[in-house]
Amino acid sequence: MAWSVGAGLEGKGVIVTGATGGIGQAVTRAFATTGARVMAVDLDQGRLNELVAALGGGPHIGMAADLRDLSRQDAVVARARQELGNLYVLANLAAVLRRRNSLDEITEDDWDLQQDINLKAAFFLCRAAGKAMVAQGRGGRIITFASQGWWTGGFGGSVVYAASKGGVVSMTRGLARSFGAHQITVNAVSPGQVNTPMLMTDLEPAVYEAIKQQTPLGYVAEPEEIAGTVVFLASDHARYITGATINISGGFLMY
Ligand SMILES: NC(=O)c1ccc[n+]([C@@H]2O[C@H](COP(=O)([O-])OP(=O)(O)OC[C@H]3O[C@@H](n4cnc5c(N)ncnc54)[C@H](O)[C@@H]3O)[C@@H](O)[C@H]2O)c1
Repeated sequence: MAWSVGAGLEGKGVIVTGATGGIGQAVTRAFATTGARVMAVDLDQGRLNELVAALGGGPHIGMAADLRDLSRQDAVVARARQELGNLYVLANLAAVLRRRNSLDEITEDDWDLQQDINLKAAFFLCRAAGKAMVAQGRGGRIITFASQGWWTGGFGGSVVYAASKGGVVSMTRGLARSFGAHQITVNAVSPGQVNTPMLMTDLEPAVYEAIKQQTPLGYVAEPEEIAGTVVFLASDHARYITGATINISGGFLMY
């Protein structure tokens, strides 16, 4: 095994979803520095083009797709295999958080939107990517995104989001069992609080201060502080880790 940070990732095909989001951009850039070939997936083609144009190495691709449309998912996987030459990693970050400060304000549409993208689309994309990795026969890495909310039930009006992330943890464990025999690992990354639009939108200042006070490291993470763990899980260094939920919360949670 080569002892570089991205050991084993050179020339490997990587799909990053939610790629133009706060953490997604950092993850996309981090993979590009390992020599991997990245397909960045998100909703807006213009923003994807900007992101991909600034990456070194390659070839890299930006592909706009609404992942709630399950019929688009096979095309995403097929294009990655064809244009990147292979598919070795799926890092699935795409998600939405719709804050509602009171339970009574939560609508069926709030429930459906968050479950549809955070959990349902995640399952079908992970399955499609995993099947492609099985067909290639060279193993693979699937990295899902939970949140501290999976454990705490969520703060600041995020109970529906938290429920979707609890589902992501269970799903990750189930997929790890299903794909393990093919040397495809499936792990969840579980950030605490990260300085991105998702965290900051509609967050009350008092909740933000309380979060910092309850975090032993005393600050909210920057996206790059999450990206390193994603690359680690994709690398050869992590090949015996599967079904894990990696807590990256500055000590906000300890498990
Ligand atoms: N920021 C935090 O504090 C925090 C904490 C815990 C977990 N997370 C998780 O980390 C991941 C990244 O979050 P972030 O903070 O970068 O959020 P973000 O809102 O900045 O990025 C999310 C991205 O997902 C994309 N997306 C949403 N719906 C989509 C769809 N239907 N199809 C394709 N793309 C879609 C959005 O366009 C956006 O670019 C998410 O899974 C999130 O739940 C974030």
